[in-house]
Amino acid sequence: MEELAGKVAFVSGGGSGIGRATALALAAAGAHVVVADLDRDRAMAVADEASWQGTECFGMELDVTDQKAFDVARDVILRRLGRVDIVMNNVGVVAAGLPERIPLSEWERSLSTNLLSIVRSNATFLPLLLEQGSGHVVNTASATGLFAYAYERMPYSVSKAGVVALSEALALYLHPRRIGVTCVCPGPVATNLRQQVTFSGPPVRMRPPVKGMSELEPEVVGAMVVDAIRENRFLVLTHPELHDLLVQRATDPEGFLAERIRAIEEA
Ligand SMILES: NC(=O)c1ccc[n+]([C@@H]2O[C@H](COP(=O)([O-])OP(=O)(O)OC[C@H]3O[C@@H](n4cnc5c(N)ncnc54)[C@H](O)[C@@H]3O)[C@@H](O)[C@H]2O)c1
Repeated sequence: MEELAGKVAFVSGGGSGIGRATALALAAAGAHVVVADLDRDRAMAVADEASWQGTECFGMELDVTDQKAFDVARDVILRRLGRVDIVMNNVGVVAAGLPERIPLSEWERSLSTNLLSIVRSNATFLPLLLEQGSGHVVNTASATGLFAYAYERMPYSVSKAGVVALSEALALYLHPRRIGVTCVCPGPVATNLRQQVTFSGPPVRMRPPVKGMSELEPEVVGAMVVDAIRENRFLVLTHPELHDLLVQRATDPEGFLAERIRAIEEA
């Protein structure tokens, strides 16, 4: 989708961090942006900021664990803006703790919020995109969905691996139908995500993919997402080290895993 001016974008989890930065970057590129978030005030504030660019932007409260909320959002967007072109599924919550201490309820909450939210979004928005024969879906996964480097937030990692798999399969389906798919796999980004972490059992250390990996500003990631939509690219790896790690794992899976185990033991 080379031209973003005049397009209509829906961004869930758009009230903060990566979603906020992408919403603002899309508006700066000329798109009308609908900012959806569980936190209504944040959604409104970001939409207000996005509208300074001169496009039509509005915020709405939306809980991605609620299928009806997506349908209501779609109806409101169609009424106010007439179409949907870009759907960014971006919400993620983290359940942390030792594997044997995280209760099933936290697994269910993580999978529902991080993964099934995209299934809900697809049920609502894909029929529209398929009918118009154009559009772009952006799913925010994580580096932790690409390979294992930590065991202390397993529901999060598993949900994000699911987002990667879902996005890849979705690209097979949508690409021939002229709809783009982008899967965003960030390393560390300076957002409010840490405030969303729930711990089961004693607190555990949250590890980055590799020691010393830099923390990016969300604006950098927002710009990467907009570029990927424009260039119709599938994978956004925010840090070049992630590419190198994936090559290492593909080349020598046993050695790669042994190295990750050693890194955890030595830390
Ligand atoms: N920050 C990082 O280091 C990092 C790394 C990899 C992946 N990610 C992913 O990036 C995405 C965005 O996270 P972020 O880091 O910008 O975090 P953030 O906490 O700054 O933003 C997340 C937003 O989602 C909203 N939200 C939470 N639950 C919701 C729900 N049920 N329905 C609707 N909105 C809800 C929150 O209110 C918040 O505004 C997430 O999917 C996260 O897993 C972040």
